[in-house]
Amino acid sequence: MSVVAKPKVVLGVSGGIAAYKACELLRRLTESGHDVRVVPTDSALHFVGEATWSALSGNPVSTEVWETVHEVPHVRIGQGADLVVVAPATADMLAKAAHGLADDLLTNTLLTARCPVVFAPAMHTEMWEHPATQENVATLRRRGAVVIEPAVGRLTGVDTGKGRLPDPAEIFEVCRRVLARGADARPDLAGRHVVVSAGGTREPLDPVRYLGNRSSGKQGYALARAAAARGARVTLVEANTGIPDPAGVDVVHVGTALQLREAVLKAVADADAVVMAAAVADFRPAVYASGKIKKKDDGGAPTVELVRNPDILAELAADRAVPGQVVVGFAAETDDVLANGREKLRRKGCDLLVVNEVGERKTFGSEENEAVVLASDGAETPVPYGPKEALAETVWDLVAPRLRATT
Ligand SMILES: Cc1cc2nc3c(=O)[nH]c(=O)nc-3n(C[C@H](O)[C@H](O)[C@H](O)COP(=O)(O)O)c2cc1C
Repeated sequence: MSVVAKPKVVLGVSGGIAAYKACELLRRLTESGHDVRVVPTDSALHFVGEATWSALSGNPVSTEVWETVHEVPHVRIGQGADLVVVAPATADMLAKAAHGLADDLLTNTLLTARCPVVFAPAMHTEMWEHPATQENVATLRRRGAVVIEPAVGRLTGVDTGKGRLPDPAEIFEVCRRVLARGADARPDLAGRHVVVSAGGTREPLDPVRYLGNRSSGKQGYALARAAAARGARVTLVEANTGIPDPAGVDVVHVGTALQLREAVLKAVADADAVVMAAAVADFRPAVYASGKIKKKDDGGAPTVELVRNPDILAELAADRAVPGQVVVGFAAETDDVLANGREKLRRKGCDLLVVNEVGERKTFGSEENEAVVLASDGAETPVPYGPKEALAETVWDLVAPRLRATT
């Protein structure tokens, strides 16, 4: 019986207060069948001790290049890894990695690793926003590392702001996706800004009622997560999904079609690509009743007059904020799916249109999807029934080669 080797993951932990959260990431990695070698820095050991890392990983732990020298750990650990993830990554660690310093085991490992590298920075907002840190992050991203954007929230002490380590489950999800793409898969969206819309808009009728649709937002979230794992800076404009914010993604929460339009138009100003996966209402009530609409005494029902909402996809395609910006739409069809899809692609003027059939238990709310991606050059890419994340990867596979060359 052949034994399949476990993927080898190096978990680098640097000296931030969020080091304790890396224990949860470690647990998720080991429980899902990864062989994890934890390489903390000396500062990290002030927060969580060696015994914890060693017991949870089942592997020896060292910060030093001077221990077990005959095994040449400063070279071997990095060389043998399938993935290196540094969580939390301090401002200091980002600086060292960007400049190629190698004064401890983790920094040596980062220089010898030829596998994908993920950094999950965590620090005070001022440290994160400092031009030095931002330039270091840009350098690392340019070289192909995936640097997850920190979350916004409570920091050490009483401060709140951007700089919080994303939820370990979210970092794990990024690692899983990066590993799934394989050793040779470089982050082909590194340095790119992409905008994704997700969910379904709600058009208020009165303070308690709205016109909505059945979109869950899961496909849009899958697209946002996939883009982040491929190195992109992602803005996700979400409407009414209730799904927690994905790691490393800037999320803008909206309710109505008009709010979604405003948020998307703002976000695309410097975007390389925009994927409109949200189900945007075509119509909204012409009048919003400020009080709850009451039942009529004569048993009759009110008539609701509707007006058209703007066609955001057509607008994005016709008036591209950045020359060469790639515009992708989604079309949910119930019949004549492909013929309607081709006609919609032509009418909207977008580059790619993901066409899927909707109906009972199909697409909306489900974890799976089946679609055909139509391209403006006539190419058609069928995506067989499978997880929404597989469709998300196919969309980015098709977007990446269409992105304009950067200087
Ligand atoms: C209580 C405490 C919390 C800290 N939290 C952070 C942090 O969240 N992020 C960060 O970049 N530095 C933080 N620091 C500063 C780092 O520990 C310091 O820059 C250290 O030199 C980092 O070393 P390393 O990158 O080798 O782990 C903290 C320091 C202390 C004393």
